[in-house]
Amino acid sequence: MVFRDPFVLTDTFIPKRIQHREEQIADITYHLSSLIRYGLLTNNILIYGPPGTGKTHSVKRVLSNLTEDINALYGRAYRASSCHAFFRSFLEKSLNVTLHPREGISVYYSAFEKEISAKKSVLVVFDDIQYLLSEDPKGLDGLLFYLSRLDKNLGLILIGNIRVNDLSLALDPPTTSSLRLRSVYFPKYNAKELKDILTDRAQEALTDNAFIQSTAAIGKIAALTAQGWGSARYALDLLKESGTVSEAILGKGYILEEAVDRAEKMLEVSKIEEEIRNLPQQPMAVLEAVYRLRRKKELSTGDVYSEYERVGHERGFEAYSLRRVSDIITELDSAGLISCRVVSRGRFGRTRLISWPSNPSLEKVYSREREEGP
Ligand SMILES: Nc1ncnc2c1ncn2[C@@H]1O[C@H](COP(=O)(O)OP(=O)(O)OP(=O)(O)O)[C@@H](O)[C@H]1O
Ligand SMILES: [Mg+2]
Repeated sequence: MVFRDPFVLTDTFIPKRIQHREEQIADITYHLSSLIRYGLLTNNILIYGPPGTGKTHSVKRVLSNLTEDINALYGRAYRASSCHAFFRSFLEKSLNVTLHPREGISVYYSAFEKEISAKKSVLVVFDDIQYLLSEDPKGLDGLLFYLSRLDKNLGLILIGNIRVNDLSLALDPPTTSSLRLRSVYFPKYNAKELKDILTDRAQEALTDNAFIQSTAAIGKIAALTAQGWGSARYALDLLKESGTVSEAILGKGYILEEAVDRAEKMLEVSKIEEEIRNLPQQPMAVLEAVYRLRRKKELSTGDVYSEYERVGHERGFEAYSLRRVSDIITELDSAGLISCRVVSRGRFGRTRLISWPSNPSLEKVYSREREEGP
């Protein structure tokens, strides 16, 4: 048998220790120290970095060590389509306040103030803010401005799979200045760090025998993941999939190195699926535009933009500016969902050529998603 307890390899499992994040956890605690020690808040915190780098788990670790005087309220903006909807569900889940979706945001604000009025110190954590940033930047600006100006001992922790400038570019200067954000960066993990994290988890998840014999495979998983996204979540998924392949297909009681390659191929499809399903409306429309033009090899940003406007029209939403669509193109490129190539056009300068990637799994998954619809 390979597994003793495969649940240990899932996202919901809370690991005993968070290795290689001591520095980030200490920084977060330090930035919060005035709230923690004196009940007096001076700064808010932005936690940012690529997916699967331990942002959520590290913050939850810090929260679990807070004293009882501090009320921590946690909300996840995962797939939220607007700030209004997000704040409503935040009130419901973290404070048990149910309000009508048609009430204005000011009604939500009053309800929030009433709920926290008796609390001494409040720490509000908004996780996965990249959804609000891309779907409703104005709403996010309004919400953060409001919270940062509340006459109350309230701290904010914003967590997002974003780059450091993304947030300040989207916010108005008064919001940025009253937020006084301190930032803590979570970089991708290297092979050595991933190996330590995997070893810890494998020891609990695998049977003793499988654990002893799977060392080489674990090293390989760590190395492969480090070359890519450096995400602990991906490494754990790959470990789980490799174990399943070894047992179910190759009939072994431990994880073979060759099973890792097969597991990687299987995960590629589910990774693309997840990425596409998680795309907000606007990037999804840009992806659709590139897909429709996939027979043409060399698309300019302008070509994609015109098609994107048509998609927006069909789907009934207002188009973003060319500038923002250009940023979305960059993001889709780094997610591997489209391909971009910068070419020099002599005295006309450099232009970016966009195309649909030649990846059969992507085409298969995307056309299936289109048929199934949202
Ligand atoms: N340093 C670590 N030690 C042990 N497990 C870790 C560590 N970092 C991440 N993990 C594990 O990896 C998975 C992803 O971690 P987490 O959810 O904290 O990432 P994240 O940075 O919040 O990702 P996202 O941006 O996608 O929300 C979880 O299963 C978590 O247990
Ligand atoms: Mg997270």
